[in-house]
Amino acid sequence: MRVTIYGSGYVGLVTGACLAEAGNHVLCVDIDEGKIDRLKRGELPIYEPGLEPLVSRGLQAGRLKFTVDFREGVAHGLFQFISVGTPQDEDGSADLQHVLAVAHSVGEYLDDYRIIVNKSTVPIGTAEKVETEIQRGLDQRGVSVEFDVVSNPEFLKEGAAVEDFMKPDRVVIGTDNPRTAELLRTLYDPFTRNHDRAIVMDVRSAELTKYAANAMLATRISFINEIANLAERLGADIEHVRRGIGSDPRIGYSFIYPGCGYGGSCFPKDVSALIALSKSVGYELDLINAVETVNKRQKKVLFQKISDFFSNQLEGKVIAIWGLAFKPDTDDMREASSRDLMEMLWDAGCHVRAYDPVALDEARRIFGKRRDLTLCERAEDALAGADALAIVTEWREFRSPDFEAIKASLRQPVVFDGRNLYDPSLLRRLGIQYFAIGRGDSLRTTTI
Ligand SMILES: NC(=O)c1ccc[n+]([C@@H]2O[C@H](COP(=O)([O-])OP(=O)(O)OC[C@H]3O[C@@H](n4cnc5c(N)ncnc54)[C@H](O)[C@@H]3O)[C@@H](O)[C@H]2O)c1
Repeated sequence: MRVTIYGSGYVGLVTGACLAEAGNHVLCVDIDEGKIDRLKRGELPIYEPGLEPLVSRGLQAGRLKFTVDFREGVAHGLFQFISVGTPQDEDGSADLQHVLAVAHSVGEYLDDYRIIVNKSTVPIGTAEKVETEIQRGLDQRGVSVEFDVVSNPEFLKEGAAVEDFMKPDRVVIGTDNPRTAELLRTLYDPFTRNHDRAIVMDVRSAELTKYAANAMLATRISFINEIANLAERLGADIEHVRRGIGSDPRIGYSFIYPGCGYGGSCFPKDVSALIALSKSVGYELDLINAVETVNKRQKKVLFQKISDFFSNQLEGKVIAIWGLAFKPDTDDMREASSRDLMEMLWDAGCHVRAYDPVALDEARRIFGKRRDLTLCERAEDALAGADALAIVTEWREFRSPDFEAIKASLRQPVVFDGRNLYDPSLLRRLGIQYFAIGRGDSLRTTTI
């Protein structure tokens, strides 16, 4: 099948590469000329495990192409996927300008039947706005062309995006047109061969499904963080509690890991967009408001522990940070907890020595050159001469570090662990002071 994809970011590029791998002819359209030039050469603008070989195979086979030409894009695919960003607007709602810009281009050039598939995470009612925008273009040109707008929200996880796309848990298809649903189902067939995973519904329900899914996952994280903060004050260990509740199949183990808050390009903005959306129809989402409040507070927890430990005397302290990406296996630092921590440390007069296995370039892009930031190429380098180590991202390589080296490199052996990677009794035995999230022997003086 012929597919056009607007937006070559985490979602668009993965979708394009995977659809090309399955034999489709895919044309990816982006407004970022630099990105498109790099992609044409097979250079990836993002880090995503398993993506590079797919892109290079697609390019070599001539089934994956890149362009900035929207006319060519509209002419190419029966399916026109919209995978552009929907960032948070000033009032918390989703900013639809990029989605509607694509719709505008489609309306400008459409001259044959097309299925416009919205993969971006968008507020309920966006499909209707996309339809209106395309129709406006057709009306201006005085032409009549048939088209359908479908909602097909994406559930892939950065860091496992290729695998998620290749083996999706579900494919949500929002449309009232059975013929369109069937065509989309056929496009996804190669990825759902062992059993049909398509869930067909109306457009508005599909749009809400995506927000509900992210709000639910964010709720689980904020829930466990809330209990972790309580455990800390009661002398309980959240890691025991986590296992104790996760073993109940009604609860399960996923997304109940305590930590220093959720980040990334989706949860914070989608939770906020859902709150704004709800307000617009006169309903207050009390639970989801609390999820957001708890998370904002949780992003301050590590700083507060560090500050308490040093009796609020942070001026001139050097803090080593392991992990800048918002989670492992990605270079994405959007809304990452590391950013909140670093901003607070800088405000308090600290110097940060940071290491991340893949996000250093992204950190350079975001922060540029700063006197109070040293980006280190190796985890050990970040420790040199630091007053303390803070762990923000649970990369695998941090799980079994050389504790003796940590002890020898730090000015005093103290570790603040925002992801509960280590056994507190082991670190105690090694003579390292260890403060984690919600653990019985954490710093109890913490005031949030
Ligand atoms: N990143 C994720 O894990 C994830 C998962 C599920 C859903 N989503 C949703 O998918 C959407 C895209 O997210 P992303 O992380 O891939 O974004 P991204 O920022 O990585 O990529 C967006 C791309 O769209 C391009 N773009 C902007 N305006 C354009 C236009 N008018 N025409 C063509 N291209 C344009 C940008 O240049 C950029 O390359 C968002 O709505 C997001 O919420 C993201």
